[in-house]
Amino acid sequence: MQLDPEDERILAGEAGETRQKMLELLVALGRVFGAERLVPIKSAQVSGASYKTIGKYGLDWLASLDAKAVVPAVLNPIGMARTRWEEMGIDPGFAKNQQAVVAAYEHLGIRLDCTCTPYYLYETRYGDHLAWSESSAVSYANSVIGARTNREGGPGALAAAIIGKTPCYGLHLDTKRVPQMVIEVHADTSRWGVADYGALGYHVGKLVGNRIPYFRGIKPDADQLKAIGAAMAATGAVALYHVEGVTPEAQKNRYDLSGLETISVEQAEISRLFTQIPVDAVALGCPHCSPAELAEIARLLTGKIVTKPLYVFASEGVIDKNTRIVDNIEKSGARVFADTCMVVSPVMVQYPSIMVNSGKAFAYVPNMCGGQARIGTIEDCIQVATE
Ligand code: F3S
Repeated sequence: MQLDPEDERILAGEAGETRQKMLELLVALGRVFGAERLVPIKSAQVSGASYKTIGKYGLDWLASLDAKAVVPAVLNPIGMARTRWEEMGIDPGFAKNQQAVVAAYEHLGIRLDCTCTPYYLYETRYGDHLAWSESSAVSYANSVIGARTNREGGPGALAAAIIGKTPCYGLHLDTKRVPQMVIEVHADTSRWGVADYGALGYHVGKLVGNRIPYFRGIKPDADQLKAIGAAMAATGAVALYHVEGVTPEAQKNRYDLSGLETISVEQAEISRLFTQIPVDAVALGCPHCSPAELAEIARLLTGKIVTKPLYVFASEGVIDKNTRIVDNIEKSGARVFADTCMVVSPVMVQYPSIMVNSGKAFAYVPNMCGGQARIGTIEDCIQVATE
């Protein structure tokens, strides 16, 4: 793999042990995946942030590192809201360990935005090379923005943040971004919302695996694209998808789709995912809510009081810019938490059955929270939380 003189200096240990180890990790990754060079990145997004997922071993490793990120680098959601963890009912022992994880990342120069939607906070452009690790953020960056990132593991993204480069292979290359199968959606999608598109992603992710699908027959907006991608990354391993006439690379390129496997999806396959099982709590904001999604929740909660716990998750940056809307949501008794989510926080484990409007959360809640999951439209979620 080609390395420049500065890289050689780092590899020789002249920039400190941590930078040396981080570059060794990137070079090893590059060799495994056949990268010919490293590519400079605009930003990193680092997973492995919740103590619930990394545990003591991960914390000890982070605490042993000593270097600073050289590009903007954002942390993935952690296991609790940093300032409101007591209100969430988080165990003080867990909070102490989580705070230690956060402090370790802060020492490494990672910004404590703790979000899977960094694209709402920091400008990310078409063609930018990135090293992001949370699967829905990766999907959004590649598919909706047209930026370029592989789905990095936590250590790989951290190493890229500290070195400012990532191995140039996979989705960093034009030739690896072309459609590999076609999904024809046969449904009247004119009234579909985020949950319907999330359910579509949930269904299609299981069929596609890690291939790059090219959708026909849908016209999702940005939040709906976010929902499809998050769900496909959860039930499959989709890091890039295209939507005819919608996503930037599908608009820019003329792909040769002849000979590709084509799968049809019918409305009935999506509708059957929407069950009516009883629920104990409702959780919204997977991925973290956009300003428009917060506004929609506030509108639907106007004049209502929740009768079941209703959790809403968004980044601190989005919450801070929408305080009036957030106040209106919380007037109902719902709670809007930053930094965390229904999957990475231990808070949802107490509920045997959780309703969500997200295909990704629908996929993850049973394993990560131990309860049953129900998917519903945002209107149905608010109805169930307030009936
Ligand atoms: Fe984000 Fe948590 Fe969902 S990290 S994508 S809100 S599982």
